[in-house]
Amino acid sequence: MKVGVAKEIAPGDRRVALVPESIDKLRSAGISVFVERGAGAEAAFPDQAYVDAGAKIVTSAALYSTCDVILRIHRPSPNEMKLTRPGQVIIGLLGPLLDPESMAELAGLGVTAVSLDAIPRTLSRAQGMDALSSQANVAGYKAVLVAAESFGRYFPLLTTPAGTAKPANVLVLGVGVAGLQAIATARRLGAQVKAYDVRSETKEQAESLGAQFVTLRSAVDGTGMGGYARALTPQEQADQQAELNDVIGAQDIVITTAQVPGRRPPVLVTAAAVERMKPGSIVVDMAASDLGGNCELSKPGKIVSTANGVEVHAPLNLPATMPTGASNFYSRNITNLLLNFAKDGGLTFDFSDEVTAATVITHGGKVVQEATRKLLAPAPKQSVRGGAKA
Ligand code: NAI
Repeated sequence: MKVGVAKEIAPGDRRVALVPESIDKLRSAGISVFVERGAGAEAAFPDQAYVDAGAKIVTSAALYSTCDVILRIHRPSPNEMKLTRPGQVIIGLLGPLLDPESMAELAGLGVTAVSLDAIPRTLSRAQGMDALSSQANVAGYKAVLVAAESFGRYFPLLTTPAGTAKPANVLVLGVGVAGLQAIATARRLGAQVKAYDVRSETKEQAESLGAQFVTLRSAVDGTGMGGYARALTPQEQADQQAELNDVIGAQDIVITTAQVPGRRPPVLVTAAAVERMKPGSIVVDMAASDLGGNCELSKPGKIVSTANGVEVHAPLNLPATMPTGASNFYSRNITNLLLNFAKDGGLTFDFSDEVTAATVITHGGKVVQEATRKLLAPAPKQSVRGGAKA
């Protein structure tokens, strides 16, 4: 079986789907590896490192015409789609629920699309394939560094002959994978860290990393399906915002990571809360996208400086800013998923396997994954027969 590694062309993404270190594992499984020229260059993996590990360097056109499987990070571009062949397998973070139409397009091309973001995350066997977690981990770490870089003071308590520097107060809102790593990183830098999440089970997790958990008087348990948060009701959200305003005003750094699957991220840091922060304070909103963010003032991909001297950062792709570390993790995730399907020199898709059923989005010319199929299905027509009320 021939497996190809595509060069990412998404603007600003310097990651690569497979690093040279993973090639040995694939070769031991009888897989030959082809790498698009320059695919790893921006992540500090030059072509020669892939050649030394036993791969062949090829052009983009040769990659698609030669390989049975293409490994990548993002969905293929329209031009790359034209290079695909029926029966070819594409594995990446394809975002089927964000763009089901492009999955229908891949199905139409006869491509088998496999998406790492559809891994059943609570399945222990799949944890080594969980690219959402590995990339969120990188993002949580980097968010703290972004804040520290822009902050005009020290993070740790520092006593020197020239005086004492007070430790920074850091608040992490949203204690999922990224939030936990942000807590750990801010603690390692010596900050005093507080954390808050709407899922009650996160209290213990945050405390075990040395953060003080913020318990709101209006607290409700926001645990939803599959270990994720549920969307709060408008009243619950208003109560939460009002109480958080007081906490936020006393922080030097606020890092937000709160997401609710398939929904607009909740606003946790209002403009009024930012107004109460001291000059020099920093907000890093990791949930910001075109859908909105956790901070009312976030502008996706930009840094907003407020009249009271606060900077609101809304970085869009933090893992891509740490391309070597992020690619190392991603490469292990995608290798594990690929090997899950590898059998007798080819790939076998056994849909009775939980990982296969969840991650194989298109196969045999059809969209086969249930969640994506539901999004593509036309809304049922309302029947007026039988006296249905308006
Ligand atoms: P995410 O990126 O969807 O959300 C980040 C955090 O924001 C979550 O902790 C969520 O509870 C929180 N949040 C949402 N709305 C909020 C609000 N209004 N106020 C405060 N916080 C709010 O989550 P992520 O990091 O992708 O995963 C979340 C959870 O999924 C994990 O903590 C875990 O329970 C589960 N998971 C389990 C894994 C496993 O069992 N191996 C692996 C990965 C995730």
